[in-house]
Amino acid sequence: MPDKKDQLIHDVTYSFYEKATTDFLIGYQFRKIQEFKSLDPLSPPLEAFKSHLPRIEKFWRVQLLGERITKEEKRFDLINIHKALNPNKGEVLRWVKLFNETLDQYESSDDKDFIREWRRKVSEFEKRFLTFLF
Ligand code: HEM
Repeated sequence: MPDKKDQLIHDVTYSFYEKATTDFLIGYQFRKIQEFKSLDPLSPPLEAFKSHLPRIEKFWRVQLLGERITKEEKRFDLINIHKALNPNKGEVLRWVKLFNETLDQYESSDDKDFIREWRRKVSEFEKRFLTFLF
């Protein structure tokens, strides 16, 4: 049985990816890493990002649960990875908006503190991105 927080991290990650990969403003960025082409090019199924999703989940477990990165795993070099995508400021703000909307959807009375901490992290990364990407 997965822990409740593990499950929440999983659900938020997948739900956010569903929104982001089909979003009219930032979806094209994710289509750059799509693993196969689908019938509808503007709404790829989540399976097209199969190898990325566990990595994103791991990232949030490191951030929110203090999980360690093992020797076999690559470090998270977020600024360089995102620099390669060349997003603009509006795209960063859109990413943050969609992420916070996903957190709204999953917030419940017994995980308010956890979600508050998650929003704080998101806002920290937003600042870091806006400072170091442009
Ligand atoms: C501002 C907060 C953001 C956070 C915390 C974040 C988090 C992450 C993480 C953890 C990864 C995986 C990195 C790895 O595998 O080492 C990733 C990859 C990716 N992110 Fe972001 N991201 C953010 C913003 C954005 C924005 C603004 C876009 C585009 C509009 C974006 C698009 C992508 C794409 C396409 C990948 C896959 C890149 C690849 O694997 O080569 N992200 N992000």
